[in-house]
Amino acid sequence: MAKETLEVLFDEKAIAERVETLGAEITKDYEGKDLLVIAILKGSFMFFSDLLKKIDLPLEIDFMSAKSYGDATHPGEVRIVKDLDNPIEGRHILIVEDILDTGQTLSALYKLLDVRGAASLRTCAFLDKTARRTVDFHADYKGYEIPDHFVVGYGLDYAERYRNLPYIAKLNFQDE
Ligand code: IMP
Ligand code: MG
Repeated sequence: MAKETLEVLFDEKAIAERVETLGAEITKDYEGKDLLVIAILKGSFMFFSDLLKKIDLPLEIDFMSAKSYGDATHPGEVRIVKDLDNPIEGRHILIVEDILDTGQTLSALYKLLDVRGAASLRTCAFLDKTARRTVDFHADYKGYEIPDHFVVGYGLDYAERYRNLPYIAKLNFQDE
């Protein structure tokens, strides 16, 4: 049996500081615009909630959930599990995601929304594992770049556990 241990990478204070800076940047960039912020469930729920409190603009929110089932021959195939409640035509859209890994999920979602006629479409990912990217995709806003570690907490899970941790930790597996 492998025992799971956690190694904290970003504590609550570090997260709060970074989120505040991101919120201020977004506030400045979208001044005077009609912003619709979209959370990609489930992983982004905690970041989304904290980030919104730091965006000082009138805005609307919506939620979307997708499952990626891509493989080597069909990369980036995503199935929408829950679609947006409303059309996005003419709106300024900011998609919020927990982590960019291979980039397949976010790049596929970006393409799906891009054909719906938004006025603008940008992405924000709290974590970015640049070394793992298999598609050419960059987030417009990002919290932290991290090495190729499996991380949990602050919304991120391992087999649906650890999402409630208020910090982000590297998950290690040790043989017992
Ligand atoms: P991508 O399509 O490979 O970029 O995968 C993105 C999704 O994989 C994220 O939305 C997460 O749900 C999940 N994921 C990728 N890396 C991690 C990790 O280190 N911890 C937890 N979930 C992860
Ligand atoms: Mg996810």
